[in-house]
Amino acid sequence: MGHGKLRKFAENLSFRCLLQPDASQVLDKEPGSRELRLKDHPVKGRWGADIFGNDNPIVLELGCGKGDYTLALARRHPDINYIGVDIKGARLWRGAKTATEEGLANVAFLRTRIEFIGAFFGPGEVSEIWLTFSDPQLHGSENSRLSSPLFLERYRGFMRPGGTVHLKTDSRFLHEYTRAVVKANSLRVLSEGTDIYHDRIPAPAEVFEVQTFYESMFLEMGLPITYLAFCIDHEGPYVFPGDGFDADYWLEKEGPRRSFSHAPAGK
Ligand SMILES: C[S@@+](CC[C@H](N)C(=O)[O-])C[C@H]1O[C@@H](n2cnc3c(N)ncnc32)[C@H](O)[C@@H]1O
Repeated sequence: MGHGKLRKFAENLSFRCLLQPDASQVLDKEPGSRELRLKDHPVKGRWGADIFGNDNPIVLELGCGKGDYTLALARRHPDINYIGVDIKGARLWRGAKTATEEGLANVAFLRTRIEFIGAFFGPGEVSEIWLTFSDPQLHGSENSRLSSPLFLERYRGFMRPGGTVHLKTDSRFLHEYTRAVVKANSLRVLSEGTDIYHDRIPAPAEVFEVQTFYESMFLEMGLPITYLAFCIDHEGPYVFPGDGFDADYWLEKEGPRRSFSHAPAGK
């Protein structure tokens, strides 16, 4: 590991706004078994009281990278609490350092795998989720996509009724997949567009005005940016889109450019 990363990891320990739980705080063994199961972290249900010191609404950015959206939204809405979640410590360092330097009291960052998110938030604790340029997970199990029925089930466990999920991405594949999930579950669409800077759609101003690290790269390449906002409310289990999503067709449309997004992943 390079000196730069080591320095960032060391400095991460000093940021009050950054939580870095280790695996033993969210995983334990089933009694009499070797299977691991998720257990509640002490912060679950306590973000308002213990971290922010108020009961303002809480909004998450999942896969926040350097926290660009989290920071921009927090500057614009001081009466809302924002939490950026990512697994990469060197990227979170950037967000946590900026939040600390600017004294942003309504920002926190959580270093964890998003698969464990249910360990950190209690029922009704979160109002909105932003998925910003999430890895589209083109191959393998659709369960790894952050807008799959499996993840929606996790989110529903801690979102308020009427909670909103915002997906902003350069990946038409992920956009269309999510649209198919939304359709299969008859979820309410709040806004949708497949080229937001050309087809002006009704959406919060920040959708057009805030560009993340990855979005800036995709815009430089001239790629269209898509947006989909929907309401999480749903009776019963979420179902998979099945034939409602033509993965092969959208994979072909996606083309080879996705490999670009993984190039700076180590940074
Ligand atoms: C393509 S980057 C986008 C970062 C940022 N949202 C942006 O737009 O600049 C995707 C980010 O999601 C994070 N990520 C992907 N899968 C994750 C997971 N399962 N748990 C935690 N973080 C994850 C990666 O570490 C990476 O920082």
